[in-house]
Amino acid sequence: MQYRLFGRTKIQVSEIGHGTWTMGSRWGARDDRTAIDSLVASIDLGVNFIDTAFVYGHGHSEGLIASALKLRPKKEIFIATKVPPKNHQWPAQHAVPVEESFTKKHIIEYTEKSLKNLRRDFIDLQQLHVWNDTWLGHGDFLEGIEKLKQEGKIRFFGVSLNDHQPNSALQIVASGLIDSVQVIYNIFDQTPETKLFPVCQKHNVAVIARVPFDEGSLTGTLTPQTIFHPKDWRKTYFTPERLPEVCQKVNKLTFLVRDEIKTLSQAALKFCLSHPQVSLVIPGMKKINHVKENCAASDGKILTGEELEKIKTHAWNRNFYN
Ligand SMILES: NC(=O)c1ccc[n+]([C@@H]2O[C@H](COP(=O)([O-])OP(=O)(O)OC[C@H]3O[C@@H](n4cnc5c(N)ncnc54)[C@H](OP(=O)(O)O)[C@@H]3O)[C@@H](O)[C@H]2O)c1
Repeated sequence: MQYRLFGRTKIQVSEIGHGTWTMGSRWGARDDRTAIDSLVASIDLGVNFIDTAFVYGHGHSEGLIASALKLRPKKEIFIATKVPPKNHQWPAQHAVPVEESFTKKHIIEYTEKSLKNLRRDFIDLQQLHVWNDTWLGHGDFLEGIEKLKQEGKIRFFGVSLNDHQPNSALQIVASGLIDSVQVIYNIFDQTPETKLFPVCQKHNVAVIARVPFDEGSLTGTLTPQTIFHPKDWRKTYFTPERLPEVCQKVNKLTFLVRDEIKTLSQAALKFCLSHPQVSLVIPGMKKINHVKENCAASDGKILTGEELEKIKTHAWNRNFYN
């Protein structure tokens, strides 16, 4: 496992972080034992950053992390969680005032809940689970962050951006108020490269690249016949009408599998890590074999310039979340 500096925090984080939405909720049948084992496997392979959120099963994913950390008590693991918006509205809408999403009281209340679920005295990174630059300079939410920092309950503060809207946080990045942004960045959605990454570089804000596999397609394991578990939200993302086109686009990426890059999943992770502005990538993982395969992608070798040039032609501008 290789490590990178997490923006201005002076903390070294593993290039592969553990995304935990898939073990929390809405991804089909739960298997908590395997999920905990996958977290422990990650830690044993050098992962020191785990991303979670209160809404991943109403604290369920946070509780699984607490159980895994109990099995590795000596390891220093950087935990990032998220406060849900008060109105539970994803994505954040422009016309909605910040008071409907985040207030001082709400941020403190949810941080306390997450601390309890995680069974910790502090959270390394507290993130707002949605963001909208029109909120900057309004409301009292920053007072909540300040108070929590003063009390030692959170160390750093960041925002997680709306799906496929990397330019919705340029102002808060430039404001110097945040330590990190979390953004969709993968072979299909390369848009953060244009404006977000340069502004993050200028202000030394860490970039957490999320959804590296486009919710699974970029692992190369889906087929036009894939049927999702009835409780897997992706049945409305990769609908039977969309799957043939998705698979057709993914099949054109097989040129990336070569030598030490054994699978498309590893190539998809290396794509994210090939951008110098990316601090780490956080694949969702609840299976040990996925953990092993993904951690092996952090071997210090990035994609070649030729491969990266070719990947540019595979960007795909679409939003299946709507
Ligand atoms: N708004 C937000 O802030 C937001 C939104 C989305 C995601 N996130 C964060 O970002 C993380 C990553 O995004 P995501 O989990 O939605 O999507 P993702 O990482 O693009 O894809 C996750 C899917 O890929 C599978 N997978 C992982 N490694 C694999 C491998 N080597 N081979 C085959 N399949 C593999 C996972 O399976 P298993 O889980 O079964 O191992 C899961 O089905 C989340 O877990 C969460 O922490 C944040």
